[in-house]
Amino acid sequence: MIYIGIVKEPDFETRICLLPKEVSLVIDQLGLEVIIETGLGEALGVSNRDYEAAGAALHSRAFVLKHADYILSINDFPEILDGEKLKNRIGIFNMLFYQERVDKFLGKNISVFSLDLLPRSTLAQSMDVLSSMASLAGYQAVLKATSHYSGSLPMFTTAAGTLNPAKVLILGAGVAGLQAIATAKRLGAIVEAFDVRKSSAEEVRSLGANFIEVEGYEDSENTGGYAVEQSEEYLKKQKKLIHRHIANANIVISTANIPGKKAPILIDIEALDAMSPGSVVIDLAAEQGGNCEITQNGKTVIYNNVTIVGHSYLSREMSKAASQLLSANFYSFLKYLINTNKEGDPIINSCQVIDTGKISHPQLIHKFELV
Ligand code: NAI
Repeated sequence: MIYIGIVKEPDFETRICLLPKEVSLVIDQLGLEVIIETGLGEALGVSNRDYEAAGAALHSRAFVLKHADYILSINDFPEILDGEKLKNRIGIFNMLFYQERVDKFLGKNISVFSLDLLPRSTLAQSMDVLSSMASLAGYQAVLKATSHYSGSLPMFTTAAGTLNPAKVLILGAGVAGLQAIATAKRLGAIVEAFDVRKSSAEEVRSLGANFIEVEGYEDSENTGGYAVEQSEEYLKKQKKLIHRHIANANIVISTANIPGKKAPILIDIEALDAMSPGSVVIDLAAEQGGNCEITQNGKTVIYNNVTIVGHSYLSREMSKAASQLLSANFYSFLKYLINTNKEGDPIINSCQVIDTGKISHPQLIHKFELV
């Protein structure tokens, strides 16, 4: 019998990786057992009784960590039980950026799957935790911006006069950026966007937003669909060209990221100085350094009357919705893992970081060899 274990996430985490609905699917459809730490769902209003009714067994944290074959979690957690075998892990560990997280699992005869490394393909879509969370974050970024912005998003025509609509600029039109465009449009703002990937222009326009064409613009996408790192020279040119659009915007939502790398700086001090007082920047790339020069990860700072919110996990502010999507993603992955021959499978190979104690992910092997 294979035991799937889930323990409480660290205090900063509001989301849960497996809800009772998917717990019962894991038990009934996949034939696995689920053991969870008592009180796992409390913060989200999911009771122990709900989990028991779904078929899970409730135990202490120590029991779960000791008896589970696979531990499912959103974040990594620090404890390693004294003298106990470390368990196989399935989570969202962003190990391309935090390579030190790999060290802990090396040589421990376990397997580690990091779902942020899944391919962005149609086949893997149901497991794609990055898309689920980015979609919510893009939506929440606009709501967050409105709570800091004291003007109106739509145009208001009243007897007392007309209020102009807000101008919203989206930097990086991936999953989060496109959702932010759609949300800002629905709220009546004038929206424009920029991305280095040529394919995003059509998507931006199909949502009714203006796509900013940067002169000398070249297609910058790798075979996985991700943006590739730009040269210093290109970034300088790009910064200068979008400077005018930043100065003109009331709200900037930045999402530009390159997997495993520091985020490109697109909003420098000069651009911030040119923004009108009361403008707002929501920087979703904060964890990887931020797209704005003075972003502080997890903090809101005010510079020259411009509010800059650095937050890469806005899905945590929609914990119920985020948990529903994550739970479906984790279940789909478990189902795939159980029913697939791991040998040579492109989906499994792309997200398996450690295989029986050894690094198996090509990008990480490459990085570790360079160190
Ligand atoms: P991401 O979170 O890695 O980056 C966000 C956006 O920032 C991307 O659109 C990227 O091109 C852009 N960016 C990077 N550097 C930039 C710069 N210097 N200036 C401006 N923009 C910059 O991307 P995300 O949202 O995770 O999407 C990655 C790719 O995966 C996209 O091509 C997306 O369409 C694709 N995808 C495909 C899916 C599928 O099922 N086929 C599902 C989800 C995503």
